[in-house]
Amino acid sequence: MNQISPTAIIELALDLASSLNSKDRFDRLLDTVRKTISCDAVALLSYHGDILTPIALQGLSRDTMGRRFYIAEHPRFSVLCQSKQPIRFPADSTLPDPYDGLLIDREDDLPVHSCMGLPLYYEDKLLGLLTIDSLTPHEFEDIPERTLVVISAMASATLNTAFLIEQLESRADHSQKVVAELTEEAWKRDGGELIGESPIMQQLKEELIIVANSDFNILIYGETGVGKELVARTLHQKSPRQHGPMVYVNCAALPENLIESELFGHVKGAFTGADNARAGKFSLANGGTLFLDEIGELPLAAQSKILRAIQSNEIQPVGQDSVEQVNVRIIAATNRDLKEEAEDGRFRADLYHRLSVYPIRVPTLKERLGDVQILSGYFVEQTKRKLGVVQLKITAEAVSHLEQYNWPGNVRELEHVISRAALKARARQQGKTIIAIEKPDCGSLVNLQVNEQNDQQTLEQSVDKSVDITAEAALLNLRDETEQFQRQLIRNILTQEQGNWAATARRLSTDRANLNRIAKRLDIKVIKSII
Ligand SMILES: Nc1ncnc2c1ncn2[C@@H]1O[C@H](COP(=O)(O)OP(=O)(O)OP(=O)(O)O)[C@@H](O)[C@H]1O
Ligand SMILES: [Mg+2]
Repeated sequence: MNQISPTAIIELALDLASSLNSKDRFDRLLDTVRKTISCDAVALLSYHGDILTPIALQGLSRDTMGRRFYIAEHPRFSVLCQSKQPIRFPADSTLPDPYDGLLIDREDDLPVHSCMGLPLYYEDKLLGLLTIDSLTPHEFEDIPERTLVVISAMASATLNTAFLIEQLESRADHSQKVVAELTEEAWKRDGGELIGESPIMQQLKEELIIVANSDFNILIYGETGVGKELVARTLHQKSPRQHGPMVYVNCAALPENLIESELFGHVKGAFTGADNARAGKFSLANGGTLFLDEIGELPLAAQSKILRAIQSNEIQPVGQDSVEQVNVRIIAATNRDLKEEAEDGRFRADLYHRLSVYPIRVPTLKERLGDVQILSGYFVEQTKRKLGVVQLKITAEAVSHLEQYNWPGNVRELEHVISRAALKARARQQGKTIIAIEKPDCGSLVNLQVNEQNDQQTLEQSVDKSVDITAEAALLNLRDETEQFQRQLIRNILTQEQGNWAATARRLSTDRANLNRIAKRLDIKVIKSII
């Protein structure tokens, strides 16, 4: 006794590194103290401001845990908090003992006894105290100073570790809540709701509820503008992972040489320019959903890496030797026919099979009988809010006009047509409280890529950007029609921007890598960019 054994030190050190919870950590510390020093009571108190709070104790009555000791009211605690060294109080000390009446089996004031305290510091900051009491007088006099120093160091490290873990846990918990809040907020802000009462949409909604609850990877496919992204967000929102993150990756916009580090992260110094370590999208989506939008645009090499990550639930950041476990549900979307792409060797067949465990087709707007009117009402209301007008309505003639159109750009086109028509109506009917959309102009498509139109300014810009499609063009099939439109639009803007790809990409609200990829696909000659 009275000498701390090497085994006890090793055990405490191992406890520090283990994943014990704080309570067990503290109890083991007190056990070691009692094994080393013969005593009747030992207590660990944490220091905050003017108060000492018991966090673990042995030999003192349970109600001690509920006490908060104001240091100024307890001279022995005051002395200890001002000391940097362990203090053994003399047996005949006249200072009142803070534990009077609290020692188990001794309800009266403590008789002459032994009492000592160890102030616990970490980097010059007082974290708390360890107090040790014995009913036997002079019990602590022979304990070597070295033993007390070692116990102090161990107790300080234990306390510091527990505080750090607590802080980390609370930060992690906070971050988790922020992510959930932001994900849900974004979902609601974008409208969130899948509007449509047609039988085909009701069937889709039922299907979504069933698959949302599974952990299958999902492939969402359908024409451009049908609402694939909205379906993906709905799936996440209705899945058990709804409180986890939903991380969005636009595969078409990933620059080819950065795909691996974007998806899997990299360590510091992994390549020129990697000044800091960076987490990839897979890690960020851990515990949640990774949405791989436009997956059909991914180069084959990147497809193999994604396949490996999906198969093994492991990722390897660029430049790192070891792999990391991830728990991610993949939702992918494409407007290509991936089955056909796989058959033609443009998409890895094995990845296609992995992703399409449950394929979901989002129907075209033409297939949704009766939904044009409902969706129009929805977008009219949204546009009213965006424009800040008192009332916006759509005439019956306008609705019937919309119902007769064939909607090659699907729901997004309808959304844009209504936005533009509302802007024009507002300009024409200035000063009126109720603005009426009378003649929506259906024959035009707006942007090249997904481009959420969030404010009035972009709405106005979109009017300028719109390009009419002739009646003959509307007879072509959707893909040809869209591609022809895209080709013409890119060429026009490129000419206006004198061959500057960066400026052209900006004008088209897309990024340069994406634009280059589309241009290659459309066989537009890539003129070397000036910037
Ligand atoms: N059923 C729906 N109810 C309400 N809004 C919808 C619906 N479907 C689509 N939208 C809206 O239409 C727009 C286009 O949808 P989304 O971006 O999801 O289409 P997409 O299929 O991903 O298009 P793309 O193939 O071009 O990427 C979005 O603003 C979306 O909120
Ligand atoms: Mg999309």
